[in-house]
Amino acid sequence: MSNSPVLQVRDLQIDFMVDKRSVPVIRGLSYDLPAGRILAVVGESGSGKTVHALSLLKLLPPAAAVRCGEILYKGKNLLTLPDTELRQIRGQKISMIFQDPVASLNPVLTIGEQLIETLRAHRKITKQEAFAQAISLLEKVGIADAGKRLAEYPFQFSGGMCQRVMIAMALALSPDILIADEPTTALDVTIQAQIIRLIKKLQQSSGMSVIFITHNLALASQVADEVLVLYSGLCMEQASAADLFANPVHPYTRGLLASLPSVKTRLERLPAIAGTPPVAGEQLVGCPFAPRCPHAVEKCRHEIPPLTNRAGHWTRCFRRDQI
Ligand SMILES: Nc1ncnc2c1ncn2[C@@H]1O[C@H](COP(=O)(O)OP(=O)(O)OP(=O)(O)O)[C@@H](O)[C@H]1O
Ligand SMILES: [Mg+2]
Repeated sequence: MSNSPVLQVRDLQIDFMVDKRSVPVIRGLSYDLPAGRILAVVGESGSGKTVHALSLLKLLPPAAAVRCGEILYKGKNLLTLPDTELRQIRGQKISMIFQDPVASLNPVLTIGEQLIETLRAHRKITKQEAFAQAISLLEKVGIADAGKRLAEYPFQFSGGMCQRVMIAMALALSPDILIADEPTTALDVTIQAQIIRLIKKLQQSSGMSVIFITHNLALASQVADEVLVLYSGLCMEQASAADLFANPVHPYTRGLLASLPSVKTRLERLPAIAGTPPVAGEQLVGCPFAPRCPHAVEKCRHEIPPLTNRAGHWTRCFRRDQI
């Protein structure tokens, strides 16, 4: 398996215009997504996970703008690519499962119509061929009686089944990169585990890369090869999943991990991280986590720490060697 990056994000900065003021939401994000790997992007609500994901396909809402940076897909900068070329990549090479799956399906078309339309929009195939491919896609994502279910409408599918259909749609054109934005949040734990296993299985059999977005570190630990912790639009820590979960360095990551329930935890109450994340638009100086950080010193309140690397484990913390 080749490990060369299929996607490289370089110093990505995204602003929102709010009341004629530009508010930074992604503040200099860089990472590589190697071919055939799963990168989990984790962070609390509002940290910028979805905004970052939408920017990868140039699907940002009109109020948002990329201020600077590069998004290189196989070396081509998607941000400067002509729309015609971008349309070839969107859906075919890079596809996305959106945060709200049920709302992403068209309620007045059958599942079959939607899948067949997706396939025929990009492939020169007959209706019969598309029908056969749609059946095989539904079978691939574990939907029994696929031929019959193609004739059904989204409302006839449960949340978990809709999510499987969304995965089938995203995989229809065998993309190189799948962006999955909180693909299991609305589902109960058992279905969640099935969907995770499914994504992992499909990723392994097809060799595609996945950006798996979640606020749930436990999920990230089950699925990811590499983990990037996002806070207030900044990468706070990035490492291989094995390293990050065994040796979390950043006080924010440690706080997130300490607040995870585990079978061993017998505490009455799980410790939560005190305080709340900064609100977008708040004047930020220094480390954005400093107001909540038990280890913060004066310097942390005035300067944003740089990301530093120790053997592939990146951390944005002045105190990394002391804590
Ligand atoms: N349309 C918008 N106008 C102004 N600000 C926005 C808009 N959409 C998002 N934001 C801001 O951008 C920031 C990042 O939002 P984003 O949706 O990426 O967060 P997230 O990490 O995906 O959160 P969640 O876990 O809730 O999905 C938030 O602070 C949010 O307030
Ligand atoms: Mg989101």
